Amino acid sequence: MRIACLPGDGVGGEVMQEAVRALAIVLPEATTEEHLLGAVAIDARGDPLPPETLQACRDADAVLMGAVGSDRYTWTDDNNPEDGMFRLRHELDVYANLRPSTGPGIDLLIVRELVGGLYFGQRGVDPDGTVWDRLEYHPSQIERLVRRGFELARTRSGRLTSVDKANVLATSRLWRSIVDEVAGDYPDVDVRHLLIDTAGMRLVENPAEFDVLVTENTFGDILSDVAAALSGGIGVAASACIGDGRVGLFEPVHGTAPDLAGRGIANPTAMILSAALMLRYGLDRPAEAIALERAVEAAQLECPTADAGGTATTSEFGDHVVSLLRRGQVAA
Ligand code: IPM
Ligand code: MN
Repeated sequence: MRIACLPGDGVGGEVMQEAVRALAIVLPEATTEEHLLGAVAIDARGDPLPPETLQACRDADAVLMGAVGSDRYTWTDDNNPEDGMFRLRHELDVYANLRPSTGPGIDLLIVRELVGGLYFGQRGVDPDGTVWDRLEYHPSQIERLVRRGFELARTRSGRLTSVDKANVLATSRLWRSIVDEVAGDYPDVDVRHLLIDTAGMRLVENPAEFDVLVTENTFGDILSDVAAALSGGIGVAASACIGDGRVGLFEPVHGTAPDLAGRGIANPTAMILSAALMLRYGLDRPAEAIALERAVEAAQLECPTADAGGTATTSEFGDHVVSLLRRGQVAA
């Protein structure tokens, strides 16, 4: 089993190191190789997604990513660090971004469309100074994502909320009609539609009413940060990006955290839990995924990092996870 690791920028490398150590214990047969992505790749190769990185990802069984972005490059630069990540998501066609949130009173899964919508539409400036971003969806892009949501709802409580802005956007009206059509194939799943503004409010007021949510790229980006804030913070939110192809991409919801980078104090929980999602959704190793999740859960209580009110450093947290896994106290 070959895992391509893309630490990226900022705290990416620090948290990746802990995930790789934990993986080596639960999946000793796997090999991990590091490749450049993001600002570090622009520095070294002049390209945020160098061809050799993309090829290594295609050849791997799964890809584990840290975070990308750097204030050394502006968001308006062509080929900025984030573009490397967008191109990677697009090239691997990992259209479904699974972002689970669990905690007291919350157990939901956001299924965010990841390779379409505003993120990939054309942008431009008209001669009169008008700036525009195009939001478009082909029905097939929506249908495959929505079907994935229904399939996942079946494996959970059988409740699905589709989030859109159908009172304003044409793409949302298309989205809603496709959800209704696909719902016909899943009579066992209970479906409702919510507008994005209402969904945001209800999520904060009563997260327990949500199980699986399906939504477009931008809405999913926003809602997943809200859900993260409701369930332990951005330092613990993990995600899986999967498509119909063989290779999935697994990444924390958080970014490069420039304020923490280089200080060895970032919380590696989200990164290690992303490795657990890789085991579950990318490598079909559910028992090993559970072992990692249990170890991280215990470490969060016994050895919290600063963001969680503790004093542990990134590597102390990782040491604790490793020792729990070694002692087998958290074996599945
Ligand atoms: C995320 C991140 C990215 C996104 C940023 C870094 C461009 O916020 O994965 O949620 O919006 O997709
Ligand atoms: Mn985001």
